[in-house]
Parts: sequence; structure tokens; C-alpha cells
Amino acid sequence: MSVPGKREDMIVHEQDPYNAEPPRGALAQSALTPVSSFYSRNHGPIPQIDPGAWSLHVGGLVDCPLELTLPGLKATYGQVTLAATLQCAGNNRKGLIEVRDIPGEDPWGPGATSTAAWTGVRLGDVLATAGVQPQAAHVAFAAPDQSQLAEPPQSYGSSIPLVKAIAGEVLLAWAMNGEPLTAAHGAPVRVVVPGYIGARSVKWIERITVQREPSTNYFQQTAYRLLPPDGTPGPGAGIALGAIGLNCAILIPDDGQQLTAGRTTIKGYALAGDDRSIARVDVSTDDGATWRQADLVEAASPWTWQLWSTQVDLTPGQVQLVARAWDSTAALQPALAEHVWNPKGYVNNSWARVNVTVGG
Ligand code: MTE
Repeated sequence: MSVPGKREDMIVHEQDPYNAEPPRGALAQSALTPVSSFYSRNHGPIPQIDPGAWSLHVGGLVDCPLELTLPGLKATYGQVTLAATLQCAGNNRKGLIEVRDIPGEDPWGPGATSTAAWTGVRLGDVLATAGVQPQAAHVAFAAPDQSQLAEPPQSYGSSIPLVKAIAGEVLLAWAMNGEPLTAAHGAPVRVVVPGYIGARSVKWIERITVQREPSTNYFQQTAYRLLPPDGTPGPGAGIALGAIGLNCAILIPDDGQQLTAGRTTIKGYALAGDDRSIARVDVSTDDGATWRQADLVEAASPWTWQLWSTQVDLTPGQVQLVARAWDSTAALQPALAEHVWNPKGYVNNSWARVNVTVGG
């Protein structure tokens, strides 16, 4: 399967379902990622949904269940545009696979991370109209795409805690960078959960259920959970992933690039989970013996990545460039992928490392 509108040099991990990330350098070009470069993560075939026939059911522990059409959604609630970064929990799995193989999972690099300006309405406003009942604690999302990868095969679903769902940043979005969503990114309407792993930003949303417990969908109950190194995936096993783990990437230069000795610009992104922000990014050319602080580029919103850049002086030889980020709670990333290896290959938030050859 091919996906229209994606750049030709996307790194395609799977054609069907389509799973692809842009080359590193593409992400360094702008604070908002063009749709053509935005990573695409799918667990089943991409549905083509007629926006005129689409409706969204809101039910469960609410006083007044809702059935919303797209014109109804646009007319009833205040429209919001918010820049937010999506990041897949499998971002940087490649670094974990280099430690120990993770069969059946795609070797994502740092490009399963992209940023867009999302336009839609606040989920909290919709839930307020429905009237959430006091026993409610979670909000479940259901989509029509069927995944043969789930056990047993089922349509995609997920949930977030009610407190997050009613926080103002969670959107039901129909546009991305000012254009209607493409089919691959969830048209006609998707959920955008800023600060949480991408798996919670459910595409092609058709049903929202307010409930006491988290979703029992495979992608909430079994997948996207962090297991100990010797753990076995199964319903309820491990830690359900929500807020993104503090991480960063080097985008320029590319891994394996040939450089000439002298002053070189290093660029990348850093991302903190949920409502934390990036406080500092350090870069090292001597495996952390000494560090240089990078300049942080002003972020497009509190919910996006923090782009950064710095310059280092390189001398001839094989050099490993290393970057690490600190967040607003003074938390620091773990140093080594060995320290965070887990059987499904999630949350590789170890220091970013890129190997370059420096010529004289
Ligand atoms: N929603 C549905 N319905 N089906 C999916 O397969 N994948 C999730 C999420 N929402 C998925 C989904 C995952 S794991 C991620 S990381 C993001 O969508 C990716 O969003 P994107 O493809 O728009 O980049």
C-alpha cells in the first residue's frame, strides 16, 4: 500500500499497514512538520471515511449521550488551533534492537516524532455538554480500522484518564497545518492528546465512552505497556504508557555522515512528557566527559518539541556525538539503551547518539 502525499525518501518500515518515518534531516527544517514529512503509524488498513456520512457517538457515564456530525461539531463548540508534537512510544526502538533483538516490532529511528498545528474543538467542551457523571475516571476512544496484529484481531482503541481528557489541550481535530486531515492522519476527525504517547491520539474516531476503568482494547490493555526486561506481554502486564518519557534526538548531522574537521553545527529536538518542558540540552563529543549547552529555539507552544542547535569543533577520526536533555523538574535522560531495554521496545529515551567520520 502506498500513501499519497508523502515524500519519496520516507523510511518505510512496513507497506501494509503503512508505517514510515522521514529521514532525520527533514525534521530539523521547521518547527511544524509538513504533512508530507510527518511520520505515519498504523496498525491496520487506512480507512477512507466520507466526512458527510461520519458521526461521533459520545456515551457511557454521561447524563446526555451525544451524536455529533462534522458540521455540528464545528458549529457547536469553539474552534481552537494548537501546535502539538506526536511521538510514538516505539520511537528510537532501533537503539534497543541493537542491544537485543525485538522480533516482530519495527526498528523506528528518531523520526516517529513530528509536530503539527491541529485545529478542532476541545474534548473537554464536548464532555461538558454531555455531562460527565461522578463515577467516571477514564475516557475511551474507538476507531473502525481493523488490526490483524492485535490478539484477537480487533478495531483500534485506547483511553486516557478523565483528568487529562478534560484538560484544555486535548482536541478532536479535523485539520493539520491548516489543511483538512488526510486519510492517513485520521480524516475526518482524530483525537490529539498533547504530551501523551501517540497511541492515545486515536485516528478516525467514531465513539467516545466515559467509563470507570481504562479501555479493554488490546492497544490499551496489552500493547503500549512497559514490561520489565524479563516480562511477558499479556492483559494488564506492565505499566500502561501515558505521558511521554523525556527524550531528545540529533537530527543534523545524520548517523554515518562524513564531515570535514572544524566547526560543525549540530541540530536536534528534545521533548518532555505531559506538561513538563525542556530546561536544558547538552551536547558532548567525548562520551559525556565534557558537555556544551545547546541553544534552545523558541517552542511553537508548550505542547511541542523544543528544537535546539549548537556548534562543536571536530577533529579528524571517528566521533560519536551525544546529546541529553533535562526537563523542568530537573530530570535527566538515562545514559544507555542497555538500561531501558524492554521486550516490546518502548520508550527508548536514552541519550541520543550519532556516529560520524571526520576527515582532515
Ligand atoms: N488510531 C487508529 N485508529 N489506528 C492506529 O493504528 N496508531 C496510533 C495513533 N492513533 C493508530 C491510531 C499510534 S501508535 C500513533 S504513534 C499515532 O496514531 C500516529 O499518528 P500519525 O499516523 O498521524 O502520525
